[in-house]
Amino acid sequence: MTTIQVKASRSYEVKIGRGLLTSLGEETAQLIRGRTAAIVSDTNVAALYLDRVKTSMEAAGFRTCEFVFSAGEPSKNGETYLNLLEFLAEHQVTRSDTLVALGGGVVGDLTGFAAATFLRGIDFIQLPTTLLAAVDASVGGKTAIDLKNGKNLAGAFYQPRLVLCDLDTLDTLPDDIFADGCAEVIKYGMIGDRDLLDLLGQKHFREDPEEVVARCIAMKRDLVEADEFDTGARQLLNLGHTMGHGIEACSDYAMSHGKAVAIGMTLITRASIEYGMCSAESLSNLRKLLKQYGLPDSTDYAAQDLYEKTLSDKKRTGGTITLVVPTEWGKSILHKISVEDLKNWIEKGL
Ligand SMILES: NC(=O)c1ccc[n+]([C@@H]2O[C@H](COP(=O)([O-])OP(=O)(O)OC[C@H]3O[C@@H](n4cnc5c(N)ncnc54)[C@H](O)[C@@H]3O)[C@@H](O)[C@H]2O)c1
Repeated sequence: MTTIQVKASRSYEVKIGRGLLTSLGEETAQLIRGRTAAIVSDTNVAALYLDRVKTSMEAAGFRTCEFVFSAGEPSKNGETYLNLLEFLAEHQVTRSDTLVALGGGVVGDLTGFAAATFLRGIDFIQLPTTLLAAVDASVGGKTAIDLKNGKNLAGAFYQPRLVLCDLDTLDTLPDDIFADGCAEVIKYGMIGDRDLLDLLGQKHFREDPEEVVARCIAMKRDLVEADEFDTGARQLLNLGHTMGHGIEACSDYAMSHGKAVAIGMTLITRASIEYGMCSAESLSNLRKLLKQYGLPDSTDYAAQDLYEKTLSDKKRTGGTITLVVPTEWGKSILHKISVEDLKNWIEKGL
């Protein structure tokens, strides 16, 4: 097992290893004063792991109640959020109790936002069950729900009390969803970990993911500790996401986030080479790695459509936009451009 300490506005441990759900109750009992745990999950994950989580919590003396919603991004909305708050009130969850988020990024984001706002803030524990949630969404305290006008438009920075990443749960992920997480893993390498990129190139890490997951979380920890509220270095995590969001939006969200990020990384790397900011080998290395992990590297959307959809994303400040630009294999920088210039970057990337 690997333990990573995150020191943000609230400090907590991230534990990564196999069989961790079994020790959840004991771990929680040491951290939480109350004895009620409201477990939040989606229909797919609850069918697989809810019993294990309940058994562990109850054996440690917790009263449990469960809120299970339909799996998928469309559930990460205001209606599910309010239903969850009403559920917590009905079950007399108090400020000394805890929420337990059992699932992927959708469950984690929604539960975290409910925890941030119910009774003006109660504890929550993240139990990520997708690779994406393990390496990214469960750590760092960004919580949110989607609004009709866009993704993650209502949310809060609110750190969990504990993250238990039980690698056994990743074994039941469909290949396609595992691949989405791989896009984020490759992203970490591209931001600043050439050794990770080498490791990924040697062999697929699915059978033995601990080292790769821990490396990604350690990098996220460093960025969160340097910039918890996302005004500087943490923005490096957006590599591939600016154009990726445009691609997701162009597809009307039919394309998954991970695949859109994979294409977004390809586009920004190619544009960076065109602008003389990056070596040509970075693009061929990236495309090889994306292929190895079953991820796409091109899109048919037109530059104008991508430009319009990319601009409607929230990550823009007045007349400028901060791009994350690869400068060499295993290194990226923040690069501010004018909103008008974004169109040129997209054209050069396609
Ligand atoms: N808070 C953050 O910092 C952050 C970072 C990145 C992404 N996100 C958010 O994360 C969300 C995407 O997360 P995701 O990709 O985990 O999606 P998800 O939570 O929808 O999970 C994907 C699918 O996998 C299923 N699933 C989950 N665990 C499983 C398991 N162990 N076995 C079998 N099936 C399983 C789910 O039921 C779902 O159908 C988006 O809403 C995104 O905005 C948040």
